[in-house]
Amino acid sequence: SRSIRLAVIPGDGIGREVVAQGLKVLTAVLPQDVKLETKEYDLGARRWHATGETLPDAELESLKQHDAILLGAIGDPSVPSGVLERGLLLKLRFAFDHYVNLRPSKLFPNTSTPLAGRPEIDFVVVREGTEGPYTGNGGSLRTGTPAEVATEVSLNTAYGVERVVRDAYERANARPRKKLTLVHKNNVLVYAGHMWKNIFDKVGQEYPEVTTDYLHVDAATIFFVTQPERFDVIVTDNLFGDILTDLAAAVTGGIGLAASGNINPTGAFPSMFEPVHGSAPDIAGTGKADPTATVLSVALLLRHLGYAPQAARVEEAVAADLQSRGDAPRSTDETGDALAARVAG
Ligand code: IPM
Ligand code: MN
Repeated sequence: SRSIRLAVIPGDGIGREVVAQGLKVLTAVLPQDVKLETKEYDLGARRWHATGETLPDAELESLKQHDAILLGAIGDPSVPSGVLERGLLLKLRFAFDHYVNLRPSKLFPNTSTPLAGRPEIDFVVVREGTEGPYTGNGGSLRTGTPAEVATEVSLNTAYGVERVVRDAYERANARPRKKLTLVHKNNVLVYAGHMWKNIFDKVGQEYPEVTTDYLHVDAATIFFVTQPERFDVIVTDNLFGDILTDLAAAVTGGIGLAASGNINPTGAFPSMFEPVHGSAPDIAGTGKADPTATVLSVALLLRHLGYAPQAARVEEAVAADLQSRGDAPRSTDETGDALAARVAG
């Protein structure tokens, strides 16, 4: 019989609350004969305060023994900025070579959006996940003095760009509209920008059915708001993708609905699924967090592991739940229960 070995990193703030609902829905939707084995990891602010550790090597090795990772949220105001982001979240993405950071955006029914009444919005951002300005390649001279100089070098390799661009073409080719947009800033970032564009054009010759388009990132932000329906699949650099996907979430129902997958398409390492939102320390423990983004991340996880019908069931349950939501506030747990009930059976 089949089994899923799932590593769970609840993390900080609302992470634990939303992950519990994600697991509830996952358990409810999985066929009876699939054995779900979960192992929880104590990583995040608590661990760092207690031991000074962010992600010890032994933990990294142990995480590797899983089919996938479900992560809640990382980050706490009591920890200096960058410590957990770099030492835990980015370390995982880099160590497990999550070069595809997949972030779908869909305008669900009955969601509050500045774009209500728009035609269908359904696009996916393929954000590069292992390179760009995220590699920690930089430094500071004369730090803290008026003569300080700081660099933060964006690292781009032909290998790294080609593999993510190819993945984006594959995804575009598999969708009905077959459209792929490259977003960069090659009018200013002429070295990396031209490399991206050249590789994008070269790989595109292998996908004659895919319609391509190029936008500078600043122009892309305009179209995200004025004409989001023009997008199907977008491929972009790590930092541009970070910024664009927050904007995408804001215009399609809010960050409470935005899911993501940090994917290693080769299967060499476990892929990791997490809501795009952060740990929201201001509402942690109040039961106000919306677990929907985590539940949609579970759908991405299911699809990645080959459970496409179950993934679709979860997404349909979310759409139906949003459709029927009233104005009365609902707790994290109640939303999880409602979604679990919809996918069950
Ligand atoms: C995200 C987050 C992270 C990122 C931070 C917390 C390192 O903003 O997942 O989008 O920049 O990738
Ligand atoms: Mn972000």
